[in-house]
Amino acid sequence: MTELKSGDEIILTTMEHHSNLVPWHLVAERTGAVLKHVRVTEAGEFDLEHFKSLLSDKTKLVSVVHVSNMLGTVVPATEVARLAHAQGAKVLLDACQSVPHLPIDVQALDCDWLVASGHKMCGPTGIGFLYGKLELLRSMPPFLGGGSMIQDVFLDHSTYADLPERFEAGTPAIAEAIALGAAIDYLNNIGMDRIHAYEQELTAYLFEQLNPIPELTLYGPQPKADGSGRAAIAAFTVQDLHPNDLATLLDQSGIAIRTGHHCTQPLHHELGISGSARASLYLYNTLEEIDIFVQELKSTIAFFRGLMD
Ligand SMILES: Cc1ncc(COP(=O)(O)O)c(C=O)c1O
Repeated sequence: MTELKSGDEIILTTMEHHSNLVPWHLVAERTGAVLKHVRVTEAGEFDLEHFKSLLSDKTKLVSVVHVSNMLGTVVPATEVARLAHAQGAKVLLDACQSVPHLPIDVQALDCDWLVASGHKMCGPTGIGFLYGKLELLRSMPPFLGGGSMIQDVFLDHSTYADLPERFEAGTPAIAEAIALGAAIDYLNNIGMDRIHAYEQELTAYLFEQLNPIPELTLYGPQPKADGSGRAAIAAFTVQDLHPNDLATLLDQSGIAIRTGHHCTQPLHHELGISGSARASLYLYNTLEEIDIFVQELKSTIAFFRGLMD
């Protein structure tokens, strides 16, 4: 694998989580590589035409989110990989929000690397995984030195172990790895197809309930009638109401929503907002819980409106 050099280009998107922005800021500072960002369309979709216009023979890496943790957008990853590979670029997928919710086939996606984290898939914090194509991983030097990642160590140099030990310096997070294995078995036993289908049903219902609320601005693409085409989350703002105030009152009714910039500050800047509220559904949520959430959301909005009148 060749190292990045000054003038090489890395393509990201404007909807990346900070964890797929900041590392590339550090890389760009070190190597002189240039960062380009694919826009999001008005409808909240990945702008494929803009992506095509950014691709060139300078593009060395395309590193994009698979499913946006704010907009819920699903990036057409297979098409992105096909177009990037045609330019000789490598592709990294941030699959933190897709691996827990969709069946994922890395060979069909044809990504060069894929990353996901344990704590978003019923597993523990502090552990995740990197998938990479074998020949690429073999060609990569270790990024951390320490015990267990070596073949032989001399006083002045070392040789390195084969995969995966080469990238696993030091005493591993053993308890976390066992727990992540159990979480993966748990999800696989339920079946990723079933989880995905159930989440689509929840998504269709959630948007059916939220769309008619006039005070809400919803972000990201609308789901199709069967709930497909986006993730089972809804990020929104309510005019003149701070998301934290909404969340505090909903919390008192036993409803937990996430608020803030969701580690997507540049996306919030693009949308002209400083923060948003997000309802996030997973396999353990029910249609009845959506009813309760929507009812509480409406009465919370009415309560604040009453204070402002
Ligand atoms: C899309 C996406 N990428 C990356 C991350 C970062 O994962 P971690 O917190 O495990 O570093 C998150 C977490 O919120 C995410 O939603």
